[in-house]
Amino acid sequence: MSGRRSAAGRGVAQLVHDFGHQLPAAPVTALRSMQVLPFSSSVGRRGRTGRAAGWAAVPAPLAVYRMTSEQVGGVWPLIAGGGLPPAGALLGIDHLSGGAFSADPIGWTLNGVAGVTNPNMIFFGAPGRGKSGTVKMFALRQMAYGYRTLVLGDVKDEYEPLCQALQVEPHAVGHGLPARINPLDFGPLGNDWTRLPGAEARRRAAMVFARWLLLIRGLVGSQHVPFGPTAETAVGQVIRDLTGYADGADRMREITIPLLWQALRVPSDELVDACRYASTQQFLDETRPLRDALGALVTGHLAGLFDAPTTIAVDWQAPIQSLSLSRLDPLGDEAVGVALTCLNSWGRAMTQLAEPGDLRIIIRDECWKQMRLGAEAVKSLDADLRLSRNDGCIQVVVAHKPSDMLTIGDAGSQAVAIAKDLLHLCATKVLLGQDDQVGDELSQLLGLSPMAERIVTDWAAAARGRALWLVGNHVAKVQTVRTSIDLSLTDTNEAITTPTSAAPGGNQRGQW
Ligand SMILES: Nc1ncnc2c1ncn2[C@@H]1O[C@H](COP(=O)(O)OP(=O)(O)OP(=O)(O)O)[C@@H](O)[C@H]1O
Ligand SMILES: [Mg+2]
Repeated sequence: MSGRRSAAGRGVAQLVHDFGHQLPAAPVTALRSMQVLPFSSSVGRRGRTGRAAGWAAVPAPLAVYRMTSEQVGGVWPLIAGGGLPPAGALLGIDHLSGGAFSADPIGWTLNGVAGVTNPNMIFFGAPGRGKSGTVKMFALRQMAYGYRTLVLGDVKDEYEPLCQALQVEPHAVGHGLPARINPLDFGPLGNDWTRLPGAEARRRAAMVFARWLLLIRGLVGSQHVPFGPTAETAVGQVIRDLTGYADGADRMREITIPLLWQALRVPSDELVDACRYASTQQFLDETRPLRDALGALVTGHLAGLFDAPTTIAVDWQAPIQSLSLSRLDPLGDEAVGVALTCLNSWGRAMTQLAEPGDLRIIIRDECWKQMRLGAEAVKSLDADLRLSRNDGCIQVVVAHKPSDMLTIGDAGSQAVAIAKDLLHLCATKVLLGQDDQVGDELSQLLGLSPMAERIVTDWAAAARGRALWLVGNHVAKVQTVRTSIDLSLTDTNEAITTPTSAAPGGNQRGQW
């Protein structure tokens, strides 16, 4: 600080002196002593002189340290990074920022927080780590912000307590139960068909047919039958004939998988012609694998579940709707996977044409069962994830580990490329505890730093509900906190710990 008199008047030091005080002298000795400390650089106290070189009018006794971001936490353990904005479902504590952690995927997308470009979320975690629990708490807490939830296939019926707490009865699908779901449902796209202008009717028909084709491709692919352009032409033509679209009917007829199968078994001459086969026999020969694959669905384990018009009425105003599938469990993973594929398609039909501001969370728990069916099933999921930006849905996919998806084809195959792409379609990745081997797998796929990998394999694996959240390019280390309300809704150990549901104080299901 200078005591010189400036051209305009007294300097600060003089002014202070005139009022009987002394300014403290510059801490020359302190600064000198700092220069002998380790890391003190050769940069002068005022910085380097020169254009844009960081010269400062006021000398700053700054020392320069260089280290990797890994080391920073060790050298300055108390410095916290900024957290995410406190919007959306308050889930727990972020141990990296030291603050509360809230999840708001649509808000993140709309505001471009941390480079998030879509609201989709994918959860990975070893069995029993709390994936479903975290998803349930997320859905429940988002309800306060007007979100409604659709559980597309509750394989273990574990969302039932949540539904019952919200006074909603889940729809149970299984043999001997009345619920039927037609995956070839028009959904809301079929509403008021007759009153639609021609161009709009054609646009909607194209959307419906594209979804059906994707489903049939997935179902046929699940029987390990390729679905090439010939099959696609035949199925496309049958769909147009059966719905009445080919005849220009103003009312579209609802079709089912058995109707489609039947039309392929007994092809009309027009169909044979339209598919450019020389004879009916040639048509039958070339489409045999396709018919057999569809036939297996019509007459196989799932017969009577997904092959008749839909009988359940979905209440879109209810806070949650869930389709319980545990009754299919004895039929094996493949059957459950096929059921999930059908529900996937049906769910997409139901959510198309959502009103603006109609916010939904679509949960696909145990989704790996569907992905293991093959490339076509993965493509169907891929299509849903791509659409989420347009229909205002948060798509939540729950899987155990990435290799669940990557085993659908050879390394480098198109199927594996799609499965990997699927990870990138989910801007938010939630990694619950894993063992070291899966940790390496995740690191390779997601490019985790060694520190992030250790959070997954050590910290998150040490307690349930802990996860590394990758939100766009932001990293959070979150312990999801359960409230007393959540305890009974998220407890899936009950089957192991409670001998009978009648045990005193045992089953608290349904309490709110
Ligand atoms: N945030 C949490 N904090 C503490 N415990 C939790 C938390 N979330 C879930 N749990 C407990 O962990 C147990 C397993 O949870 P959950 O069923 O959600 O795991 P999961 O990863 O979905 O398992 P799976 O792969 O078998 O479906 C539950 O019984 C629940 O009591
Ligand atoms: Mg689970």
